[in-house]
Amino acid sequence: MIRSELDVLLDKVQDPALRADLRSQIDRLKQRRSFGLVFEQHIPERVRLPQHPIRERSQVVSRDDDASPTFEVILIDDGVATLVQVRDADGTYVHRSEQELVGQERAPVDSLVVISDFGEPVLPGFRHLGAVERGGDRPYHVVIKGENHHALEALRFTHAGKVDCIYIDPPYNSGARDWKYNNDYVDANDAYRHSKWLAFMERRLKLAKELLNPDDSVLIATIDEREHLRLGLLLEQMFPGARIQMVSSVVSSQASVRDDAFARCNEFIFFVMVGDASPSKSSDDMLNEGLSSTKSQLWFQYVRTGKGNLRKDRKGMFFPILADPASGRIVEVGESIGLNVDRSEVPVPKGLIALWPETSDGSEGRWRTGPEVARARARKGLLRLARSGKKSSGWSAMSVNAGTERRINSGEIAVDGHDATGGAILREVVGSDIRNPKTVWNRTSHNAGWHGSKLLASLLPGRAFPYPKSLYAVEDTIRFFVANKPDALVLDFFSGSGTTAHAVARLNRQDGGRRQSIMVTNNEVSVEEAADLRKRGLRPGDSEWEALGIFEHITRPRMTASITGKTPDGAPIAGDYKFADEFPMADGFEENIAFLELRYLDADDIDLGQAFDDMAPLLWLRAGGQGPIAQHVDDADGPLPYVWTDRYGILFDEDRWRGFVSGRPDSATTAFIVTYSPTVFAGIAAELPTSVDTVRLYDTYLSMFLPERGRA
Ligand SMILES: C[S@@+](CC[C@H](N)C(=O)[O-])C[C@H]1O[C@@H](n2cnc3c(N)ncnc32)[C@H](O)[C@@H]1O
Repeated sequence: MIRSELDVLLDKVQDPALRADLRSQIDRLKQRRSFGLVFEQHIPERVRLPQHPIRERSQVVSRDDDASPTFEVILIDDGVATLVQVRDADGTYVHRSEQELVGQERAPVDSLVVISDFGEPVLPGFRHLGAVERGGDRPYHVVIKGENHHALEALRFTHAGKVDCIYIDPPYNSGARDWKYNNDYVDANDAYRHSKWLAFMERRLKLAKELLNPDDSVLIATIDEREHLRLGLLLEQMFPGARIQMVSSVVSSQASVRDDAFARCNEFIFFVMVGDASPSKSSDDMLNEGLSSTKSQLWFQYVRTGKGNLRKDRKGMFFPILADPASGRIVEVGESIGLNVDRSEVPVPKGLIALWPETSDGSEGRWRTGPEVARARARKGLLRLARSGKKSSGWSAMSVNAGTERRINSGEIAVDGHDATGGAILREVVGSDIRNPKTVWNRTSHNAGWHGSKLLASLLPGRAFPYPKSLYAVEDTIRFFVANKPDALVLDFFSGSGTTAHAVARLNRQDGGRRQSIMVTNNEVSVEEAADLRKRGLRPGDSEWEALGIFEHITRPRMTASITGKTPDGAPIAGDYKFADEFPMADGFEENIAFLELRYLDADDIDLGQAFDDMAPLLWLRAGGQGPIAQHVDDADGPLPYVWTDRYGILFDEDRWRGFVSGRPDSATTAFIVTYSPTVFAGIAAELPTSVDTVRLYDTYLSMFLPERGRA
């Protein structure tokens, strides 16, 4: 059975009696079910960090052995580490007393890799791996290679509260070994499969939530039938203040056919709308084809139909509408009468008729609203009578609904006058046949096979990636939330082949926007590839192995191809983009994109200013990811005391603050100041305009990731 974090902690309790007592109490508690989504949240998540430097006191595992125990490095001498075992392969702690029995081992440092429990502090940085630049001064899209949990941690430093739209397409937990937990594929036989998936998602969503703009942003997550119920509950629990909707989206009308089951043709998209976020209206309702020629229904029977339609079902909705029987004009809307009052007792002025709500079988029904709303609508002609052969009076009452009233107020529907009954003559304004998208989407452009896999094959001939999304599906999905935000920042931390960044580039081309995307993906190889590579004596970290990983083999070349319009072989990409914007794929996009690798920094190196190369892209990203990355370079007199780009500056030598302050370009919005002294920092910051975001290095960074180390 899998061991939980509590089990691991219990093992540390030395006193056997106390340990037994605690065990029985915990077992009792575990039997208790609470409301909401209950899952084993305590299966610790550990991750191998091949880029992390190995130092004395690092926790490491053997690089070659997926089931390696965990060791602590005691000493490093001439490339050889002396190790003591601190955990078994299953994660159980080895007590200090037992460590002596197990004894020490020695291993070459390059046969080891650092392993870290999530929750243990890491100091993330980024290494610049290259860029494609076709977008002039436009902000860079960024693709980060690395573990997304730590990349999200890094983005807390650069983008807390700044992200407009998160789109994720996480592993669907299909049971087909499509994702790893603790370096191990999760398959259908894993009893803790759902708990692991939920724990994995919850950890990342917690960080993602901190990045969303609390006033107006959206988190979009796609999922299929295997986890959508659990994901829905998790989102509700994690975003209590947000509005959450789920769309069902057809992704393959051919459907995947299985015996004894409905053929599955759809998946689900959750929209978590934070603050004021709401989907923009569209001329495409996502369900009906050729919508512009269909007109929406503007008038409805005012008598309530369906469930709850009887007089007794709602108080206050049984009242007379008094009208002129010749013209059908409404003269007055009467008051509602009590349940025990006979309607025949209500006086009807001479020459008028009284319309009462009646169901189709002639029993007493109810209207759709109370008398006040009815009066307000009648005054505007939005409640009117229409000829009816079915009613004894020859008239029935018709009304618009609240949605139509809103569309009238916003000008989408014009009132062209009033007819003989006094009813408004309504017209949907040409060109504004826009409406709310529906919760069921059926668009051939969203077919994942044709516009995901096949499109990817045109960009990267001969390379395959499992289940990329349709480019146009992602484009349509995020458009609902960034159409009116030309500078939106879109994040996808399960970016796979990079479809989301590609979709953002298309949206920019359609309206001249300067939206920026940040993608995160790991560099995993598939199960089959890994087996094959191991057979050939290769192991993770080897260049041949790494070259086949998702980032190196798919994401980076796909993004390069889409922007340049050329395949990795340099040939123009064959075919045209379709749907909202049709043009040759060989045209590429006038966009910039930078490729970064997540790195793990050492606090001492940071203090000594020796980690600057891996901090530089982080600072650049915090300052908006635009223009060049500021470097700490030397001139003839030694290291430069400060540096400015158009967007941001870094003061390395606090004594040279005057030159730094006076050298600031007007366009710069961020200033990083390296100083140990909060007072010096405050003094320099005060010399800069308040519109400039001033950040004290490295303390702001260190105190964010190592709270106990912060001096700020
Ligand atoms: C379902 S795919 C996304 C596909 C993507 N929407 C597309 O159109 O190409 C999920 C991706 O997340 C990546 N991934 C899974 N776990 C990750 C992690 N912990 N850190 C970074 N990437 C991860 C996988 O490598 C995979 O490529």
